[in-house]
Amino acid sequence: MFNFGSDVKPELADIDWDNLGFGFMPTDYMYIMKCSQGENFSKGELQRFGNIELSPSAGILNYGQGLFEGLKAYRKYDGNILLFRPEENAFRLRMGAERMCMPSPTVEQFVEAVKETVLANERWIPPPGKGSLYIRPLLMGSGAVLGLAPAPEYTFLIYVSPVGNYFKEGLAPIHLIVETEMHRATPGGTGGVKTIGNYAAVLKAQSAAKAKGFSDVLYLDSAQKRYLEEVSSCNVFVVKGNVISTPAIKGTILPGITRKSIIDVAISQGYQVEERLVTVEELLDADEVFCTGTAVVISPVGSITYLGKRVTYGSTGVGLVSQQLYSALTSLQMGLTEDKMDWIVVLK
Ligand code: COI
Repeated sequence: MFNFGSDVKPELADIDWDNLGFGFMPTDYMYIMKCSQGENFSKGELQRFGNIELSPSAGILNYGQGLFEGLKAYRKYDGNILLFRPEENAFRLRMGAERMCMPSPTVEQFVEAVKETVLANERWIPPPGKGSLYIRPLLMGSGAVLGLAPAPEYTFLIYVSPVGNYFKEGLAPIHLIVETEMHRATPGGTGGVKTIGNYAAVLKAQSAAKAKGFSDVLYLDSAQKRYLEEVSSCNVFVVKGNVISTPAIKGTILPGITRKSIIDVAISQGYQVEERLVTVEELLDADEVFCTGTAVVISPVGSITYLGKRVTYGSTGVGLVSQQLYSALTSLQMGLTEDKMDWIVVLK
């Protein structure tokens, strides 16, 4: 078992818990595990949180050979600490690692490393109802490489940061613009895995949208520019009557764990859920639209702007379906309702 240094005490950190946004805050410890190309990860360790040293020629810096994950830990009123489906993140990282020619930790190694990191940073987990501890696992080609090739060494690292709402709107509806020129992903590319380059690729469209007052960007498929893909940092759902539709996973869309969970929650609540091609016309004709993601959780969409035309949904408040699914999911994640799906891992 890891021993805390004498300067680190496991009570709550002294920060403003009432005003957490989604910004980086350094904590006490990070987890690091390394392995060479062609080998398996075997043993990692907790280290004091701090900068890491990389060769300027590291694979991740030169060729973007890297993946990340995102999951959250919640503190319950009874003192328990809960993780939500961490093994799903482990599976997704393994899938991405295969696509990016990297070795990856086993599911057990991943989950164990997450648990150790969360417990070592326990005092940074927000009090119940104030937010969560965002857990950011990274897998990167850390070895030096000059010619284009997989790096000779890999680092698996986990750091954490206490967070509140992702969008500055909080739970209020966000405003999206549909991007018709720039694309997030292409068939056969890496849009379906959580590689770092997917996120750098959306910064230009996202910055332009924010400069015009939009919250974020909704991307269309690159071949026909007609079918919905996802928003920069989350998946999208369209509600029409009792039917909730979301773009099917087909290589260009990130298989979100919140997306997958919301599909199951919605079905259990009697909605018909369709994973298929969803057209931009259906989006504009929807009763309600919402986004899902680990960071975002569920974010209702208040308006969509497409080719200069703005469509609004409902009045100014949160749509009924979004509200219902948000309550069901977050109650589960925070341990307020019975975990019938067996999704929660109790840390202590
Ligand atoms: C997450 O939702 O965890 C993500 O990885 C998205 C990221 C841009 C914050």
